[in-house]
Amino acid sequence: MSAASGRAARVAVVGSVNLDVVVTADRRAGAGETVAGRDVVEAVGGKGANQALAAAREVDTALVASVGTDAAGTAARATLTRAGVSLDAVSTSSHPTGHAFITLTPDGENSIIVVPLANADLTGDHVFAALDLLRPAVVLCQLEVPPEAVHRAAEWCESRDARFLLNPSPMGDFDRRVLALAHPLIVNRHEAELLTGLRERSAPDLARALSVGSRSVVVTDGPRGAFVAIDDAVDLLPAPAVTAVDTTGAGDAFAGVLAGRLALGDSLHQATARAVDAASRTVQLARSER
Ligand code: RIB
Repeated sequence: MSAASGRAARVAVVGSVNLDVVVTADRRAGAGETVAGRDVVEAVGGKGANQALAAAREVDTALVASVGTDAAGTAARATLTRAGVSLDAVSTSSHPTGHAFITLTPDGENSIIVVPLANADLTGDHVFAALDLLRPAVVLCQLEVPPEAVHRAAEWCESRDARFLLNPSPMGDFDRRVLALAHPLIVNRHEAELLTGLRERSAPDLARALSVGSRSVVVTDGPRGAFVAIDDAVDLLPAPAVTAVDTTGAGDAFAGVLAGRLALGDSLHQATARAVDAASRTVQLARSER
């Protein structure tokens, strides 16, 4: 049950929680170089937390995660609780809460070093047991937690007939067999290239190639929008033209809203259109304004 709402969660996000340390700089430092930054802010982040926050704006949402007992973990819990995310399935680790060090440049682009810390303690058994209690209709996973946590989430979805959404970001080791369960698989072009081994192909080509191995596929294509592929049919859900201030977490907002809208009964195309809008709004806002 959701602590925040008293209702059963319809979406469960299985994923990471981080303290994001965001440095704004005119450019990235090269190897051996020191560059002066302009500003530094701290924010609650992690792909799991970001996705849960976005999903909770649509529907009752629970987070399955692992955080430390430190100030970062306390702050994350407070932010997520205020947003209505159920934390009943968030376990406490003896390690510090995960950290991400983000360099943000004036073009709105970022580079990120993420240190898992407590996120590495999320076990497959905890995930499976938590999902059995939460009984969500939709489960959304990314790859900032151990692969075993994702595999057990997929296994739970298959055994309980729940919808499994996979956003394999950042791309890393995982059992490729779970791709067949993803409905949809949510990837950007870079991730699509890594999964297919195809280079210099258009986003629709990548979406079509991936749709052979998953029940449905969504390939996000930055400012263009997102391509939805089901079997051989590929459709573009276009994004409005906007000026990006900070692209950090836009993909997470996309995935979270997609999960929430699917749980509410939207078609994949309807849900993707809402997710494209959410990501477009996100990139126009600085972290402090979200
Ligand atoms: O996708 C953005 C997120 O990636 C950040 O919040 C950071 O924590 C990293 O995990």
